[in-house]
Amino acid sequence: MNVNHVNLEVVSGNASQFPDSGLIEVAFAGKSNVGKSSLINALINRKSLARTSSQPGKTQTINFYNVEEKLYFVDLPGYGYAKVSKKERERWGKFIEEYLHKREQLKHIILLVDIRHEPGKNDIMLYDWMVYNGFEPLVIATKLDKIKRSQIQKHVSVIKKTLGVEDIHNIIPFSATTKQGKDKIWEVLDSLIDP
Ligand code: GTP
Ligand code: MG
Repeated sequence: MNVNHVNLEVVSGNASQFPDSGLIEVAFAGKSNVGKSSLINALINRKSLARTSSQPGKTQTINFYNVEEKLYFVDLPGYGYAKVSKKERERWGKFIEEYLHKREQLKHIILLVDIRHEPGKNDIMLYDWMVYNGFEPLVIATKLDKIKRSQIQKHVSVIKKTLGVEDIHNIIPFSATTKQGKDKIWEVLDSLIDP
């Protein structure tokens, strides 16, 4: 998609505030600090419309980016952020879960994992849940610029094996720094959005 117009339409801490325009939604999920907001910025060609931070836990609301009046990119708060209280974590967990489980407009979930690390328990849980519920198993391996080119295959294999991804093409390495992988992600997104 050629993206020129994007608006942050709704920032929601409450399900009653979710938009009701009926556009389909593509959500970006993953551990805190993995690069969800950075990926959204790259995809929509904006430096910092989606707020990013080196401090994990930056995104604390569910943010809806209206892309060309065609769909929403939904920036979710990351899971596994240790610095907030357990109670707060549970509240957020519930909120995100409710969004993922109940949202009819949600057509695609993109799971982000850090290419350097083996996926964790939460990543595996979410991936399994996605597959079980019929979502396309699309995984973005972020921070590609942080490893040597010669190590890419090895790291992608670990992710494939740990998550149980069947088709290696469903794992796309990406760097928000170099934008490597961006065109491929758009290719897949375009085919998902307009099959
Ligand atoms: P939360 O909102 O806390 O859940 O985090 P997030 O997943 O939205 O991560 P965010 O996009 O805010 O990025 C976290 C940090 O990682 C920031 O300092 C980014 O600049 C950095 N970062 C994200 N993607 C990349 C990447 O591909 N390469 C490098 N080197 N740094 C990245
Ligand atoms: Mg974020």
